[in-house]
Amino acid sequence: MSDRRIAFTIDGRKIEARAGQTVLEAAEEAGVYVPRLCWMKGLTPAGACRVCTVRVNGRPQSACTQPAAPGMIVENDTEELRELRRDVIDMLFVEGNHFCMFCEKSGACELQALAYRFGIAAPKYPFMFPRRELDASHPDIFIDRNRCILCGRCVRASQELDGKHVFDFVGRGRDKRIAVDAEAGLGDTDCAATDRAIDACPTGSLLRKRVGFAVPVGRREFDRQPIGSDIERPAAAE
Ligand code: FES
Repeated sequence: MSDRRIAFTIDGRKIEARAGQTVLEAAEEAGVYVPRLCWMKGLTPAGACRVCTVRVNGRPQSACTQPAAPGMIVENDTEELRELRRDVIDMLFVEGNHFCMFCEKSGACELQALAYRFGIAAPKYPFMFPRRELDASHPDIFIDRNRCILCGRCVRASQELDGKHVFDFVGRGRDKRIAVDAEAGLGDTDCAATDRAIDACPTGSLLRKRVGFAVPVGRREFDRQPIGSDIERPAAAE
């Protein structure tokens, strides 16, 4: 990445990016939160969830894959985009089986935290109640596909951070799901409880066994502050 600075605006605020940065990365460095789910620092962006959709010179683009360019005009926090993001989050809830009150990730789940941030109290679409498999064959980890939002962060983290290939997508459309690279299930893979892929899961789909309530409910990351608060800061006076 070179030192060349690229100036553009986001919601009227002047931002400077380094060459090679995406809109999401430059915004984050400047203290502007662009909501995201499938993006994770250190992983190749996938542009899969569309929660980060912004308008760039009037056209919808995913901020996590859109390279910053000089003079671009980016809209991020508009009612239209908030509504679009609300819809995406809403659909992720009804497509799976998310019972937050029984989930160990509650309070630290990015999907739940986004729903709170966007004021979603109850989904506006009907629940689909799909039947999905749980894989508890590993001694230390389990996969609950009911909570999987198909962001692919575990797939990329396993490859890019752990140097393995434990997870991948199989199937299409409604049947698309996360699979592991062993027919007998997760317990037959080389996945370890220390793998970064486990922490990459934004929901409670991939969890370690026997660590429930290590941090009490009410004191978890998003119990303390809304998602994105660690990024947001007021524009510097010009
Ligand atoms: S965070 Fe950009 S598409 Fe998912």
